[in-house]
Order: sequence, then C-alpha cells, then structure tokens
Amino acid sequence: MLPFPIKRRRKEAAVAIDPGAPHVVFPDICIFLVERRMGAARRGFLTSLAQRKGFSVAQEYSGAVTHVVSEQNSFTDVLSWIERKTGKPMQSAEDQMSPHILDISWFTESMSSGKPVPVEATHRLGILGSQVSKDKDALSTVAPYACQRRTPLTHHNSEITEALEILGKAAAFQGSEVRNLAFSRAASVLKSLPSKLQSAEEARNLVWCGGHCQAVIQEILEDGVCHEVEALKICEQYQCMELLTGIFGVGVRTAERWYKDGVRKLRDLENPNIKLTADQRAGIEHYTDLKQPVTLQEARHVERLITDALHRFVPDLEITMTGGFRRGKQQGHDVDFLITHPSEESLNGVLKKAVDWMDSQGLLLYHHTKVRSRVLAQRRSTHMDGHETCYAIFALPSLDSMRCEAGAPGAHTWRAVRVDLVVTPYEEYPFALLGWTGSKHFERELRRYSWHEKNLSLNSHGLYDTQKNCSIPATSEEEIFALLGLDYVPPPYRNA
Ligand code: CTP
Ligand code: MN
Ligand code: MN
Repeated sequence: MLPFPIKRRRKEAAVAIDPGAPHVVFPDICIFLVERRMGAARRGFLTSLAQRKGFSVAQEYSGAVTHVVSEQNSFTDVLSWIERKTGKPMQSAEDQMSPHILDISWFTESMSSGKPVPVEATHRLGILGSQVSKDKDALSTVAPYACQRRTPLTHHNSEITEALEILGKAAAFQGSEVRNLAFSRAASVLKSLPSKLQSAEEARNLVWCGGHCQAVIQEILEDGVCHEVEALKICEQYQCMELLTGIFGVGVRTAERWYKDGVRKLRDLENPNIKLTADQRAGIEHYTDLKQPVTLQEARHVERLITDALHRFVPDLEITMTGGFRRGKQQGHDVDFLITHPSEESLNGVLKKAVDWMDSQGLLLYHHTKVRSRVLAQRRSTHMDGHETCYAIFALPSLDSMRCEAGAPGAHTWRAVRVDLVVTPYEEYPFALLGWTGSKHFERELRRYSWHEKNLSLNSHGLYDTQKNCSIPATSEEEIFALLGLDYVPPPYRNA
C-alpha cells in the first residue's frame, strides 16, 4: 500500500429519512450530503428539508449523484472521505461530467429559492467565498480555472508544486483521477503566482489550496520538506509504478497489474507469461534513450527530417511543432507535430507515404499509426482524440558528427527519440492546435470551463453546443478563446 495517512473512521450514524417524503420535482438532480463535520443529526434534518422541497437526496454515494454538498470541508477532504466510504477511487470517464463538489451555500440558496440554483464558481469547494476565509487580499483574486490565468514556464514555488505533483501522481497510481485533479489544481494555482508564497496563511486565501494541500504547503514552508512526499519517494510501489508507467505504451492499469504480478524491474518483463504490445516492446528496448529528455536542438532536427519527408509528397503541407516545445519548454519527453492542408485530398495518405519513406531511410526504429476515427471525430461529448496519428520512435542521427566518428566501433550514431505526428483537417486545425499544445492540465481545465461555465463541449476536433446540437466553427486559437468568453492565453502561458 502507498503510505497515505489512514484517518480515523467514525461509526456512521444512520440518516433519518422523512417517511412522508413527497415525490421528486427535480429528477435531473441527485444530492449527496457529506456527513463529515456536518454530523448525522444535521444531515438528517437537511435531508428531510430537501426532500420536502422535491429534491432527491441519496443516502449513499453513487455514480447517480450530481451534487455533493458539504460543510466546513475542503475539496480534497470531501474526495478522500467519499473514497474511504465507498472503498473506490472517484472516477470520471468524462472529467467534465463529474459531480459538482459544493459548499453548503449552494444547498441553502436552492432551498430558499425552492429550486436548484445554477452552480456558480463561489459555490464550488476550494474557492474563496465558499470557504472559511473572508479576507480579501491579492492572492484571493486568482481565477479558479487554469485557462483563466497565465501560467509561465518558470515560477516561484517549485518546491511546493513538485511535492503536490508527486502526491497527484500517487493518487493517479491509486486510480483516483479526482484526487489527482485536486493536487494538479493546487500545483497549477501556485505556478501562476507572481511571487514566492511566504506563509501558509497566504495559501488559505488561494483557490483549491485548502485542506490536505494546505497542510503540505505549510509543512514545506516550515520544515522544508513534506514527510508524506518523502515517504512516497522511497516507497517501493511508488517507485515501481513510476518506472513502469515511464515505459512508452504503458498506462497506470497495466503497470498496476504487472506490479501485482511481482514485476519490480524492467528485466522482470522478459517473463514469457507477460504479454507485451508492440508499443511496449519498443518502449522497453529503447527505455534508456527515451528517458533522456529531448532537447530543443534535437526537436528542431526532427522537424527538419519530417518536413523534408512530408514535403517530398505534398510540398505546401503545413507542419507545426506543438506540445511542450510550443509552450517554450527547452526539453520534453517527445516532439509533437500537427500536419494540415486546406485540401483534404492533399492530406489523404500523405502521412503513410512519408512514414514509409523515412522507414526506408533507416530513420525510424518503430512506428504505429492510428487511422482517423470518424466516430470519435463526430462524437461531441468526448475528449478522446480521433485524428490520424503516428506514434513513432525516431533513430535521430547524432548531431555531433565528430563524436560519431570518434565513437567506439559499433557504437550508435543515433539516439532514440519519441515523436507524435498528427494529421488534422484544415477546419479542425485551430482546435487540434489548442488541444495538442497542452499542458495536459491546461487542456483539462479548458474543457471543464467550457462545459461547466458555457455549456459547450470542447475537444481537439471542435466546439459543440450539445443542446442545440450544432458545432461552432473557429479559424484561430484566439477565436476559440473569444467564443468561450476567455482572454487569450498565448502558448508560453499555458504551462499550467
Ligand atoms: N494529447 C492529446 N491526445 C493524445 C496525447 C496527447 O490530445 N493522445 C495532447 C495532450 O493533452 C497535451 C499535448 O497533446 O496537451 C501534448 O502531450 P504530451 O506530448 O504528452 O505532453 P507535452 O506537454 O508535450 O510534454 P512533453 O514536453 O514532456 O512531451
Ligand atoms: Mn510532447
Ligand atoms: Mn506527445
């Protein structure tokens, strides 16, 4: 088990349900009242009150719950509490569809209005106004969604953000996307601050930085380290999950299964009972090279190679480097490119031709192409990406020719580099550019903002009004931000 503190469990008292509860007037809403800090008696009272007003109130937490309401708890407190009660990590297949995690203020306003009031940012937990502090200082003006803020590449709070990101990763390793999101949010807020956080007191006024995150911040500011994080770093399971999920083609679920089957080292994967995909075999073979960060110079080299290959077949194809390098990073785990052209015909088959040509030139160690998925490209409520994509491992010729010549006989004159090549129709290009520039957290927040604040579904194919069942076109990233009512955030400030 990962060394998370096990909190004391109190015996749960039964909730008094009003036997004469009238029928449900608001069938789209299902409230779950968190008993932690509220107490069984008050929970029972609030349950009957809501039921009398026609609200459906769930006694147990389940996937049917749409509004989680709690009193005097932070966002992470609520998630951890629910996860302990249900014994399951909180999952959300579509993170935009997850239940609202709300302060009691939403509940009281809804009861006095006699109907569910729309969820506002101030009702959400972790946001100033719904939490303890009423002090309005400069820090309290940090906007709640990462896409409403500017987050530069370098910032002033890396000691704390690194700790929070390790906790987030551990949550992801345990299968809890929702707790992972909570830690990512806190880290992202701190990255956007204009100065170094001076005290835990300052963090109290920051959105998403309450409860568990606040304790971590306080510990680091006072002791220089967070003991929970230090324990994780030397925890065998955490280290193994880190090693295994670091292999190209290996996700959390596969890593977890292997760990349970006793895999501890890369060598253990040589066991014939372990079935590996082609991606994973290539990932293990080139593990050491792929772990070494790709430099900007190497990324430019890859860009020249793929531009040369693609332009052999369609000379005016547009090729854009996206991902971390577009956000100004000087190194990354791979190099991402978008490929587009105004004529659909020019795009047909061009990736395959260029990839085959590069393969024939000995430039590729591995590649696997996913064809364009019409279903995913048209499914408006998903954030899954349906673009034609080639996931490749390049044999990048060494830039240092002197070193190659002087190298030992048989030594490599190349190094393995991961490259993603994505083909997008011209009209989807601005959405694909926005979706593939990242960061992952920025994208996740942009989709959540679109959905929760604008009722629009955004993915890397388009922007959709699911109520009117129509798509909203855009010709640039700037236009997409404008359509969403957001100030434009240039790529170097999307390092959320
Ligand atoms: N992405 C995506 N679909 C995928 C893989 C990635 O839409 N199947 C998006 C991610 O959401 C991210 C961007 O592509 O916004 C880049 O992903 P990735 O290369 O994993 O991350 P980088 O930010 O480029 O980080 P690094 O520099 O380490 O590569
Ligand atoms: Mn990348
Ligand atoms: Mn990538």
